[in-house]
Amino acid sequence: MDTVTDLQTRALAEISASDSLQQLDELRVRYLGKKGEITAQLKSLGSMEPDQRRSFGQAVNAVRDALNQAINARRKALETEALEQKLLSEKVDVTLPGRGEQRGGLHPVTMAMERAISIFTRLGFDVATGPEVEDDHYNFESLNFPPHHPARAMHDTFYFGDGRLLRTHTSPVQIRVMEKSDPPYRIIAPGKVYRSDSDQTHTPMFHQVEGLLVGRNVSMADLKGVLHTFVNAFFERSLAVRFRPSYFPFTEPSAEVDIGWEKGDGSESGWLEILGCGMVHPNVLRGCGVDPEEFTGYAFGMGVERMAMLRYGVTDLRQFFENDLEFLRQFH
Ligand code: FA5
Ligand code: MG
Repeated sequence: MDTVTDLQTRALAEISASDSLQQLDELRVRYLGKKGEITAQLKSLGSMEPDQRRSFGQAVNAVRDALNQAINARRKALETEALEQKLLSEKVDVTLPGRGEQRGGLHPVTMAMERAISIFTRLGFDVATGPEVEDDHYNFESLNFPPHHPARAMHDTFYFGDGRLLRTHTSPVQIRVMEKSDPPYRIIAPGKVYRSDSDQTHTPMFHQVEGLLVGRNVSMADLKGVLHTFVNAFFERSLAVRFRPSYFPFTEPSAEVDIGWEKGDGSESGWLEILGCGMVHPNVLRGCGVDPEEFTGYAFGMGVERMAMLRYGVTDLRQFFENDLEFLRQFH
């Protein structure tokens, strides 16, 4: 009897001292499990005299019940404690002021690009695309740049060293379009181009919108007309526009278009070149299987950053790529 009373005292003390559910379960197994101490006591009943067996049996059962009750109570307490801990650590203070939302906006170059695309699609041009990683054939050869032609040097090309290069203009898309289908063509090709070039009006990556229109009896007058229409729609104010004779191997005759601009304070003014253009060279048409006796066409390639500079009054093109939020927020 003494052993059983001692056992109860010890077990109850251990149960109330246990501080985790795992520890509590170990105690349950140690006392009440199949090989537990209480179970062992019950097993010893078999070898006892009947009346001894009866009183001892009652005592052991009472201890077993007491331990069971103590274990259940302790478990409940531990579970409540754990839940309270969890609630405390996951508490959200709903009275804190909000952090606020800031409205995002499109980058000025994206806005200029989308503006140009929307004007040309309203004029009936479809949008075509091509890869930014090109090869010599598409970027130069098929555009009538003979090998070692000095015009190649003007492009400051980034080469990969395995024959591939980063396209220096969107003009290779002209070739891809003409190779794929038959004339007439009326497409624009917006996209990124790359040149090893950096100053106030040049960055190593910039955007161009290429245009190509090929059909019957297309003339230089059509080219001038479409470009005037575009410039008026794009800038929405009258700017000085100048067609200047120029040279590209893939157009003949060729021209460049400059826009008269003033710096913000009106201090300095001059001409900013926004695009190159011309009548598609017969060699280029022939190379794509188009008969230059039957079809003629014009092409142009405009610098999107340059047009964004003029439309938004930005005097240094590199600002577009500095990710300065103060600068970018002005355009929202
Ligand atoms: C060309 O790239 C020709 N492919 C354009 C063309 C297309 C001519 C079709 C005829 C027919 P150019 O190198 O001049 O031409 O570049 C065209 C425009 O891109 C320039 O007028 C200028 O506005 C812009 N541009 C050129 N280099 C840069 C640069 N580094 N950074 C920003 N804009 C540039
Ligand atoms: Mg040029």
